[in-house]
Amino acid sequence: MPNLHSVEPALLPELLKRMPKAELHIHIEGSLEPELIFALARRNEVAIPYASVEELRRAYAFTDLQSFLDIYYAGASVLLHEQDFFDMAWAYLQRAAHDNVARAEIFFDPQTHTARGVTMETVVTGLHRACAAAATQLGVDAELILCFLRHLSEEDAFATLEQALPHRDKFIGVGLDSSEVGHPPEKFARVFARCRELGLHLVAHAGEEGPPAYVWSALDVLQVERVDHGVQSVQDPALMQRLAEERVPLTVCPLSNLKLCVFDRLESHNLPQLLEAGLCATVNSDDPAYFGGYLNDNFLQVFAATGMRAEHAYQLARNSFEAAFIDEAARTKYIGQLDKTFASFS
Ligand code: ADE
Ligand code: ZN
Repeated sequence: MPNLHSVEPALLPELLKRMPKAELHIHIEGSLEPELIFALARRNEVAIPYASVEELRRAYAFTDLQSFLDIYYAGASVLLHEQDFFDMAWAYLQRAAHDNVARAEIFFDPQTHTARGVTMETVVTGLHRACAAAATQLGVDAELILCFLRHLSEEDAFATLEQALPHRDKFIGVGLDSSEVGHPPEKFARVFARCRELGLHLVAHAGEEGPPAYVWSALDVLQVERVDHGVQSVQDPALMQRLAEERVPLTVCPLSNLKLCVFDRLESHNLPQLLEAGLCATVNSDDPAYFGGYLNDNFLQVFAATGMRAEHAYQLARNSFEAAFIDEAARTKYIGQLDKTFASFS
């Protein structure tokens, strides 16, 4: 491990930008920038209820998760053709390359599209084509994770899984997202059990707005390998002890939590507390087009607000590779690159 105490504090922002990292919690539909929404609306002749990019951006004033989801699903309505899904993912992957994201595990919400008559094949093929191109043209290793919408039924999730199975080679796992409170993990116990039998990786959003009980059941009922958000876990000391002992990764999204009023100020974000308690916390962007920043913006702003230092930066980047669904050879390679970057700043 490099000597982290010898990093000049003034160099921290540059170090945060330059260090290699994995992004494990990014909804590709949440990377759709207003400019691209308008361009796709014109290209596809889809009407949107905003007169301009500026007017749409002004509507991004959220009070909670649901107030965001309503506008996020509306924005996705401009996506119709395979090329639209490619263009959206390619734009994100270029931003990721710029932020030195070495590995991206990208969520997509097929039900948002299949409910509008877009086929699963259109969605998966367009997104996967962008991921494949990113490996050769951008040096970003990207894979897809299919998310079930938890405000819909488990039956609907099973139907979605059936539609996706012909494309099993194009996604590595499943997740659970959308409106959390009132839709506990237990609702999806059977479909997650089936996905486990199929050898898919399992993750779920839990403890974003919902209680620690949802984190417990994501672990015990769904048997997830990572918890998305999980910041409410600090309310439950026994849960914190379990997360630390088992090194269950939490994919934390600081700017998302700020914009959705999970924390009233970034200065009060509990990321330093999660690290201090020995949890495998990571930093991620969630829905960067809606929350005011991509991955490096999340690092820069949460570090500036909380006073975290180089040793926290190292731990967070290292955690991201520990938590990534990659083989040991890739993990060793990325951590070696991380160590080299830190050594060059010492
Ligand atoms: N879908 C997109 N972003 C989400 C979030 N932060 N929580 C739950 N579902 C989401
Ligand atoms: Zn999310």
